[in-house]
Amino acid sequence: MAGELLSVRDLRVELASRNGTVHPVEGVSFDLDPGQTLGIVGESGCGKSMTLRAILGLLPRGGAITGGQVVFRGQDLLTLGRGQLRDVRGRSIGIIFQEPMSSLNPVMTVGDQIAEGPVAHLGLPRSAARERAVDLMRQVGIPDPGRRYRSYPHELSGGMRQRVMIAIALSCEPQLILCDEPTTALDVTIQDQILKLLLQLQESTGIGLILVTHDLAVVAQVCQQVAVMYAAQLVETGPVASVFAEPCHPYTLGLLRAVPDFDKVKAVLESIPGIPPSLIAPPDGCRFRQRCSFAEQDCAAGAFPLLPLAPDRASACVHWQSCRDAVRADPVIGQAS
Ligand SMILES: Nc1ncnc2c1ncn2[C@@H]1O[C@H](COP(=O)(O)OP(=O)(O)OP(=O)(O)O)[C@@H](O)[C@H]1O
Ligand SMILES: [Mg+2]
Repeated sequence: MAGELLSVRDLRVELASRNGTVHPVEGVSFDLDPGQTLGIVGESGCGKSMTLRAILGLLPRGGAITGGQVVFRGQDLLTLGRGQLRDVRGRSIGIIFQEPMSSLNPVMTVGDQIAEGPVAHLGLPRSAARERAVDLMRQVGIPDPGRRYRSYPHELSGGMRQRVMIAIALSCEPQLILCDEPTTALDVTIQDQILKLLLQLQESTGIGLILVTHDLAVVAQVCQQVAVMYAAQLVETGPVASVFAEPCHPYTLGLLRAVPDFDKVKAVLESIPGIPPSLIAPPDGCRFRQRCSFAEQDCAAGAFPLLPLAPDRASACVHWQSCRDAVRADPVIGQAS
């Protein structure tokens, strides 16, 4: 069944800001099965991080979930109390953020930080948790883990710190790991190593993975499924190979055309002319229409939810066929396969 591990339904988030109420997530729905990797892509500010944060109840101050469901292994996380949610977060769902330095405790050894979860959530005695931490450090490729156990975060390189974050995320054998731009702060070769590591771990442990990124090449490399987000809404979902070969939303097409060669050029998402609409007072109709070369009059009013095109594909574009026909006439260069 689709969404056996995680099923997000019509998720809505509001954030109070000085200029008014921001709506960074509006009606987002997606499913994830065990062992699957889903990439969430979209321009800066479209709501990717808020979606991940909402799943775990980690919204910033002034943020609130105003609707929807986040069903994780049959249980709606939005109905849980703080304590229960903290337990799910520590134990069943790991999270990896972009900048490990801000998530690690600067005055605690990295080994103890990895051992903390197993003590708190799995009830392991200290000594066993320590052994487990050393094992995890080895598993994520930290050399000389016995010695590194006693290092403080500032004594490690960015790549090693991110490996520590991954070890922490894995420490209680979660079923799901959420990664928010886990490699953006790292240089390219380290990025590649970390992605390979995540992929390897995912293959060996069968955990589900959600990877938020700006980088379509990363999605092509790591993910089976992709969800394209634009101005707080999902506009296209489906298997990566199929969506990248034949996008059925003009925004996805725009993103792909901005990356002429996946192997050589990193995604420059901002190269689509125009800017996304305000998330405080978004316009009626399709939110991409002002930047869209396929837009027609019927795009100006109404709601544009994701609609199924095939059993495993969905698009929010009512003119998706025109988009697909344009792709067929002029295929996107540098396909995902
Ligand atoms: N603490 C906050 N208070 C008010 N608005 C916020 C806050 N944090 C983010 N926002 C707004 O919410 C929207 C979504 O932000 P979010 O961080 O989810 O974007 P994103 O897709 O992760 O972007 P990026 O790719 O830059 O990380 C943005 O328009 C942003 O301006
Ligand atoms: Mg973000």
